[in-house]
Amino acid sequence: MISAYSERLLVQEVAPRDGLQIEPQWLETADKIALIDRLSRAGFTRIETGSFVSPKAIPALRDGEQVFTGIHRQPGVIYVALVPNLKGAQRALAAAADELNLVMSASQSHNRANMRMSCEQSLAAFADVVALAREGSTTLNASIATSFGCPFEGRVSAERVLQIVDAYQELGVDGITLADTTGMANPRQVQALVTQVLQRLPASALTLHFHNTRGLGLCNVLAAYEAGARRFDASLGGLGGCPFAPGASGNICTEDLVNLCAEMGLETGIDLPLLLQLSRGLPALLGHAMPGQVAKAGRNCDLHPLPAGL
Ligand code: COA
Ligand code: ZN
Repeated sequence: MISAYSERLLVQEVAPRDGLQIEPQWLETADKIALIDRLSRAGFTRIETGSFVSPKAIPALRDGEQVFTGIHRQPGVIYVALVPNLKGAQRALAAAADELNLVMSASQSHNRANMRMSCEQSLAAFADVVALAREGSTTLNASIATSFGCPFEGRVSAERVLQIVDAYQELGVDGITLADTTGMANPRQVQALVTQVLQRLPASALTLHFHNTRGLGLCNVLAAYEAGARRFDASLGGLGGCPFAPGASGNICTEDLVNLCAEMGLETGIDLPLLLQLSRGLPALLGHAMPGQVAKAGRNCDLHPLPAGL
């Protein structure tokens, strides 16, 4: 069959982790599992399913074990767990996570606020995690939070980010994510940094993680795409944010990104009508409106009847 699409873009769904970690209202484990099971049928190849962090730091995700063991795993879907340290990695491996996502910030202040350690301490802990993960078949991704700006320190230099990319590569991780934790990136900065990072690793190993805090999320996706990036995190409904970054708000919204791709002729393999249905169910589940836009407006092809009398 000849595809109508000329290029493909990979979308990793992060609502069950980044999306839910900041929700003030407790979401029952069974509801989390039901949401992840529905997302598993929407065509994603990767879902960040939860985190194994201190339950005191992120109480909303304290049921990581039950979630990972309760979901119905769809063949072909990689279920990712965010981990901050060796203890988190041990818990994630015991719960049979397919991939571990390590996180450290480019800026010392955000790493201290988020992880209660210096960047050097984080990297030392990651070496232990890599050694542990290598005993099995679990793959490893490593994220660089505040890659494009820090809510405490302001601008983060490209040199600093590249230094961490090099350190991660020396550790031997399989993939790297550049995260814009509080939506401080702009498209020119994104294009320049992605171009530099892609000189060090292939597009298949680089993920961009944008937040829409200042309304630039999808602009930044396009800038990264033009620079050669092909993998993006996004969150159903536009949920999300880091509770340890002042002013944080939602990730780029998955259905808005998938709609953008569909309109531009970029294949994602994701069932947009199903996503819209899931997103429209979130306000009832979480008790507030979602920032995403296409779930409210509908797709371009969802036409309206002419006003009566015309
Ligand atoms: N999972 C569960 N419990 C953990 C844990 C983990 N991964 N890591 C540490 N703990 C527990 C310890 O066992 C200890 O428990 P105790 O008080 O019952 O003895 C307690 O947490 C303190 O341990 P310590 O190593 O001193 O951690 P800390 O208080 O310095 O916090 C982190 C460090 C990394 C564990 C914590 O800051 C954290 O989980 N941060 C993640 C934040 C996050 O997820 N942000 C959003 C995603 S980017
Ligand atoms: Zn995030």
